[in-house]
Amino acid sequence: MASSPGSARLTVLLLCLLVSSTASATRFAPADNHLIACGATAPVVLPEDGRRFVPDTGCASVRLRSTAPTLPSAPDAAAPPPPSPLHAAARVFSCHASYDLAITRRGRHVLRLHFYPFSPALAAARFHVGAAGFLLLHNFTVSSPVVKEFLLPVDTDALALTFVPEPGSAAFINAIELFSAPEELVGDVGTLVAADGTVGRTDGLSSQVFETLYRINVAGRKVTPFNDTLWRTWVNDGRFLVDTGSSGSTVWSFGGRIAYPKGSRLMSREVAPDNVYNSARSVRSDGNVTWGFPVPAGSRYLVRTHFCDIVSKALYQLYFDIYVNGHLAVKYFDISSVTGSLAYPYYIDFVVDVEDEGILKLAIVGSKMSRSEQVSGFLNAIEIMRMNKTGGGMDGDFPVSLDMGYAIRMGIGEFVRSLLCGLIFAGLLLVLVVLVMRLRTELRNNGTLCSRQSIDSGDGKLARAYQLVPTKTDY
Ligand SMILES: *[C@@H]1O[C@H](CO)[C@@H](O)[C@H](O)[C@H]1NC(C)=O
Ligand SMILES: *[C@@H]1O[C@H](CO)[C@@H](O)[C@H](O)[C@H]1NC(C)=O
Ligand SMILES: *[C@@H]1O[C@H](CO)[C@@H](O)[C@H](O)[C@H]1NC(C)=O
Ligand SMILES: *[C@@H]1O[C@H](CO)[C@@H](O)[C@H](O)[C@H]1NC(C)=O
Repeated sequence: MASSPGSARLTVLLLCLLVSSTASATRFAPADNHLIACGATAPVVLPEDGRRFVPDTGCASVRLRSTAPTLPSAPDAAAPPPPSPLHAAARVFSCHASYDLAITRRGRHVLRLHFYPFSPALAAARFHVGAAGFLLLHNFTVSSPVVKEFLLPVDTDALALTFVPEPGSAAFINAIELFSAPEELVGDVGTLVAADGTVGRTDGLSSQVFETLYRINVAGRKVTPFNDTLWRTWVNDGRFLVDTGSSGSTVWSFGGRIAYPKGSRLMSREVAPDNVYNSARSVRSDGNVTWGFPVPAGSRYLVRTHFCDIVSKALYQLYFDIYVNGHLAVKYFDISSVTGSLAYPYYIDFVVDVEDEGILKLAIVGSKMSRSEQVSGFLNAIEIMRMNKTGGGMDGDFPVSLDMGYAIRMGIGEFVRSLLCGLIFAGLLLVLVVLVMRLRTELRNNGTLCSRQSIDSGDGKLARAYQLVPTKTDY
């Protein structure tokens, strides 16, 4: 049957519709999906990915408990606009406080904590953050906008996210993301590269807590949450390359289709999106490419190396070695034999201890076994996650009580401390009342809202963090 150009166009259109509808139908929809704008008075919609964050009050699945009242806070009206709408408000805690987030499906969750210290008092805040009794951030301070991402197993019906200020300080948070991680995101087994260079198998990874340190799109553009089904950000590898001059590496980008396996329980777009797999950096058979990542020393790391052969014209052309922290981890890696097809994504998880140097190195080294001199091996992406040091915390065990129930059973020392918290809070309230009164007078006098200098009393630093009233009109 002959088809007219018109009907051909219609077929193309229908195909496009089909493709786009299946693409949207398979978009990841987490069972639990808490998006919370702390201290905000209205929902915040992110312009970059359209996600809607709801205020932390008046939401049925989120409960805020605190041993002392907490205050919403917003930047000074005169301050420069915040980097993200999520940074336009915060909740500030003068004492132990906790969010209980309802969990409908137990299992691994992704937790992202957004911090932006929009006032000097917040920048001076020193505090601890725990989740489910596990210390995630110890003695934490923030000097610039930062997102802390953790992957943690949750086996209760509510996750308690606890903030504990250091004595005399405050704690704060701007936004929280907590959503169910897809099953395939973290496997249980990895390749252990020990300090003495022996390589073996390690398991039990699925019960660990991970903190994401780096997410690198090798030789590719920055991938934003818009193009990542788990709303991740991947950055270019350029500034982590060591020794680029001598390596003779080549940059590749691919316009074809990444062949994600259908219905696989191990590999999907949620592991890494197309935009990450469609770029790579290759190495010559006589060269090497090395990346170096500054990391806190004395921790164990999960190094995920992503491969997707977008550089070969045929199978079985490439053989290369992978070095992790200076140790040969894989010899003559032959990607074709594990994937059996081109443009098919694959990853290897290495587990490595970084002792004192504080730099984690990763290298791909060409091999004479390869069919071509020009291209011997390649890499598409790197993820580096720090693993928990003990069963109690990312950094180890510290005498920080994350238990909210302690207020009931507390001893005399705790009682005094909570009394102190109450006093600090009363002090803040007093400052606030004075502020409101001054503001009223000033408004009457010159009709302006700017009164920065008016709060430089002894408590000036803290008071600025609690500038509730002067900025309320921002919303
Ligand atoms: C936090 O750091 C400060 C200053 O280094 C220190 O005095 C304090 O003991 C630390 N707190 C905890 C719980 O480790
Ligand atoms: C998303 O990916 C597409 C295709 O690679 C690209 O054209 C677009 O610029 C990306 N958008 C963002 C916001 O990164
Ligand atoms: C990488 O190449 C440099 C010289 O370009 C060489 O000194 C180094 O030993 C090589 N590293 C490996 C792991 O082969
Ligand atoms: C990390 O935490 C998990 C429990 O959350 C625990 O089972 C595991 O032993 C901890 N890892 C280390 C190295 O202590």
